[in-house]
Amino acid sequence: MLQHDRAAGQLQPEFHRATPECPSPQHWSMIDTMTAEVEVLEFLATLVTTIKPRLIVETGSFLGVSTEWMARGLQRNGFGKIISCEFDPVVYERAKERFINSPLAPYIELRNQSSLEMNIEGTIDLFFSDSDIDLREKEVKRFLPQINPHGVILMHDASSHHRVVREAAHRLEDEGLISAVFLPTPRGLVLAQPRAGRI
Ligand SMILES: C[S@@+](CC[C@H](N)C(=O)[O-])C[C@H]1O[C@@H](n2cnc3c(N)ncnc32)[C@H](O)[C@@H]1O
Repeated sequence: MLQHDRAAGQLQPEFHRATPECPSPQHWSMIDTMTAEVEVLEFLATLVTTIKPRLIVETGSFLGVSTEWMARGLQRNGFGKIISCEFDPVVYERAKERFINSPLAPYIELRNQSSLEMNIEGTIDLFFSDSDIDLREKEVKRFLPQINPHGVILMHDASSHHRVVREAAHRLEDEGLISAVFLPTPRGLVLAQPRAGRI
């Protein structure tokens, strides 16, 4: 949070190291090392206007920046909701402050809960897994039965440097649960779809 406050919204070149799939990370920008890369934030908003989800679930709100970008997409669509969970109570309060008096507030539900305990009602059209890297596989498996077969699953931090998430995505593919594309961003982003129920 300190790093975020010190940056005061100023963009910096991406900090994560080069990987074989993304050899020039300095071409990307970041606000801080926890918040998704700026280009990924832009992609999230565009994805929301492209697939027009009714329900987005995000794990790991941190300070609510990615939540805000997806909510901007919802606002442009004119409908839909994002439920985002953050299990750290101090961080959750900071995220909540971000949306006080915000025109985006009607589109956002923040929960001070763990992703592995949170219950969601209904069908999830876009699932963004961005909490603790060791939990991403469990999160996808937990929510998979509720994810729209025509919906999208995103797993952040799936670069070959962060091997845990990349290997988790490979395993989920090998188990026949998802079909995945590995986008070569500095921290890595898996774009996937549930295998079951696809036409
Ligand atoms: C990488 S940050 C999220 C960044 C945010 N999505 C963004 O791009 O603006 C991960 C956050 O997940 C939270 N977290 C870790 N494990 C969690 C869990 N099981 N449930 C909910 N939040 C969790 C951490 O406290 C941290 O704030």
